[in-house]
Amino acid sequence: MTNLVLTEQHNQTLVIRINRPERKNALTHDMYTALADALDAGHADDNVRCILFTGHESCFTAGNDLGDFAKGLPGDFRETPVGRFLFDLASALKPVVAAVNGPAVGIGTTMLLHCDMVVAGNNARFQMPFANLGLCPEGGSSLLLPSWLGRVRASELLMLGGTFNADDAYRLGLINRICEPADTEATALALCDRICAQPPAAIRATKDLLTRPTVEQLKEVMLEEGALFAERLKSPEATEAFQAFMEKRQPDFSSFK
Ligand code: COA
Repeated sequence: MTNLVLTEQHNQTLVIRINRPERKNALTHDMYTALADALDAGHADDNVRCILFTGHESCFTAGNDLGDFAKGLPGDFRETPVGRFLFDLASALKPVVAAVNGPAVGIGTTMLLHCDMVVAGNNARFQMPFANLGLCPEGGSSLLLPSWLGRVRASELLMLGGTFNADDAYRLGLINRICEPADTEATALALCDRICAQPPAAIRATKDLLTRPTVEQLKEVMLEEGALFAERLKSPEATEAFQAFMEKRQPDFSSFK
């Protein structure tokens, strides 16, 4: 496993830490593979009852590595590292909790839609800037957000791709707790400990009942999103957006039809 994704055991919780602070924890193909491997290992381990995703006190993740985006997404989305990670997460059988501080951009926000509980620091900044980058929604967000938040709120978040803070996320029903950034992980671990102390078969049944009605539709939507996303990655709009980010300037979409 790459040291850009670390795992440790806390009581009966497997902690999966995104660890690339110098790049704001941006996720590469190898890191998605490591995240999916860690998730699968957690499921296979009888000593693990709960899984916690976390980053650092100042950053959860800046989303997909923009350099890796330029390489494109080959073939069947489900077989890509990000596709495998999202499918594993969406069909996880054990409870998944996230501790979020600082930026949670792109998949940093959409992966939270598949978590059972989310704790955020008051420094958390959520954003799904897919359209801003010439891309389209991913991670099932085009299905889940309108059904949870209502169409107009989902459209605003996905079309304008603006940043929203922990209070907004709490108001929208996307997170459970807000705390000081230094306390986020401990608060999330305390929630994990409480989940682990519950009767395990009852927790499995609860998770199954919460996810089963929508998981197949969710997978279909993630495949559709993934195929369109791969197309969009090759678009001149996305090329302009990535180039602008690298050159630290605003993108100019005025000439596109
Ligand atoms: N991919 C690759 N590198 C990234 C990155 C990403 N998604 N996000 C940040 N980085 C790099 C920056 O290029 C910078 O590198 P440099 O030091 O060589 O210039 C370094 O990480 C620090 O980022 P910086 O932008 O200086 O930090 P910040 O605190 O000012 O802003 C963010 C943090 C997350 C708001 C900002 O980095 C950002 O918007 N990143 C892009 C997010 C994004 O669009 N992700 C894709 C979503 S689909």
